[in-house]
Amino acid sequence: MPRATAVINLDIPGPTISRHLYGHFAEHLGRCIYGGFWVGEDSSVPNEGGIRLDVVEALRALDIPNLRWPGGCFADEYHWRDGIGPREDRPRMVNTHWGNVEEDNSFGTHEFMALCELLGTEPYISGNVGSGTVREMSEWVEYLTRDGDSPMVRLRKANGRDEPWRVKYWGIGNETWGCGGNMRAEYSADLARQYATYCRDHGDNKLYRIASGASDADYEWTQTLMQQISCFGCDATPKNFFQGISVHHYTLAGPWEAKGSALDFDRDDYYRTMVAAQRTDEILTGHARVMDVYDPGRTVGLVLDEWGTWWDVEPGTNPGFLFQQNTLRDALVASLHFDIFHKHAARLHMANIAQTVNVLQAMILTDPDTEALVLTPTYHVFEMNKGHQDATSLAVHLRGENTERSVDGTELATVSASASVKDGSFLVSVTNLDADEAAELVIDLRGGTIGEPQARLLTAGRLQDHNTPQAQAAVAPREFDGLKVADGGLALTVPPHSFVTIQAPVL
Ligand code: AHR
Repeated sequence: MPRATAVINLDIPGPTISRHLYGHFAEHLGRCIYGGFWVGEDSSVPNEGGIRLDVVEALRALDIPNLRWPGGCFADEYHWRDGIGPREDRPRMVNTHWGNVEEDNSFGTHEFMALCELLGTEPYISGNVGSGTVREMSEWVEYLTRDGDSPMVRLRKANGRDEPWRVKYWGIGNETWGCGGNMRAEYSADLARQYATYCRDHGDNKLYRIASGASDADYEWTQTLMQQISCFGCDATPKNFFQGISVHHYTLAGPWEAKGSALDFDRDDYYRTMVAAQRTDEILTGHARVMDVYDPGRTVGLVLDEWGTWWDVEPGTNPGFLFQQNTLRDALVASLHFDIFHKHAARLHMANIAQTVNVLQAMILTDPDTEALVLTPTYHVFEMNKGHQDATSLAVHLRGENTERSVDGTELATVSASASVKDGSFLVSVTNLDADEAAELVIDLRGGTIGEPQARLLTAGRLQDHNTPQAQAAVAPREFDGLKVADGGLALTVPPHSFVTIQAPVL
């Protein structure tokens, strides 16, 4: 049986795990906004001002820290002025990226901000660089955040909102190397400086500007951006143009042309998926290394604002809608990512799973016919792990026997863990990726003691198990009673393909 020991020093605090590592993403794509978050005021689905209340209630339980909107690729053809004012007067457009469907702009700026208020989350707005203008983006910032009197303030007030909103997170373009304009890194970096210049801080609303960054392991892109981060020599006290730079990395079981099915996969596909997920660690390390050269004080954040699994769409659904099922495999991809994120907490300021409802690795799936709502296995990982948000990370030193497996020549560590402490409460998360074998784990706690622990387990009989309207809790957390309090620590047998969280007061 695989065996591992995890040494955790309770008295050696690491960096804070920003709550924004648990961020979300909602694009005008398929049924994420329309049918997912938004049903319109006349819907028979209970709603507030058109926003689905069952979705809001489910997400409130996750304490989601921020929501990125309106894209993705859609952001670079979105013109915000089309989405304000009386809905019946709003112009229509074609969503050319996603299914070539008509977008009626009924969900716009005011609706998004109302959604954030209902969710209790911070907005992260992604501005249009690909087909927009500097003026358009500058005026959107003014419309949202300026107080007093100005042309955009008057327009906002005419649309029914007197007070400015607070918006901190602002994306300057999306995937400018691809759907956001097919630019070269040098050109994109120059544009990021230009747009950032005119995205003003109005009053005390201080923007955190996120420049469109690299795809996967494109470290040269990051280097080009970091070289342009501030204007040395043009100012006595150089100030960064942007406060964060993004990177996108998705988890696939194979190449883009053969991503594979969300449900119909075998053990080999499963392990290949986990190797791809594990690669996130290497990618974040690579970008952080480049950033350290230009910003050793770590003032600029790395923002992984798109991550998650990407499978073939479910048979019979619109290929442009990216609707996929979500199994225990997806949940373990998520738990592995969070261990990686916690490890990178000093540089990684934000991460956003793609996407929250009905698209890619979603938390929630809604049935288009019955409107039934299903919480996915991934949802449960976010819920079980929420105690790590804004907690102090604790390094986990793992050593194991038989906890490595070779997958197509790459070593995969099958036991993964991360830990933190917040408000006197210790939380450790453990993932056993082995498809077949349980792992014996000793958690050796040093530098402090804990009180009565409570543990929860997320697993299922099969890797392919998932939730449906008919079987809502096929994959759901339950109490885990296999925990023994040993001298100076904890001992447990972690079932195969499972995720366990243990919480205990620090004495
Ligand atoms: O999340 C789906 C798409 O993936 C986004 O629109 C784009 O940014 C990325 O390529």
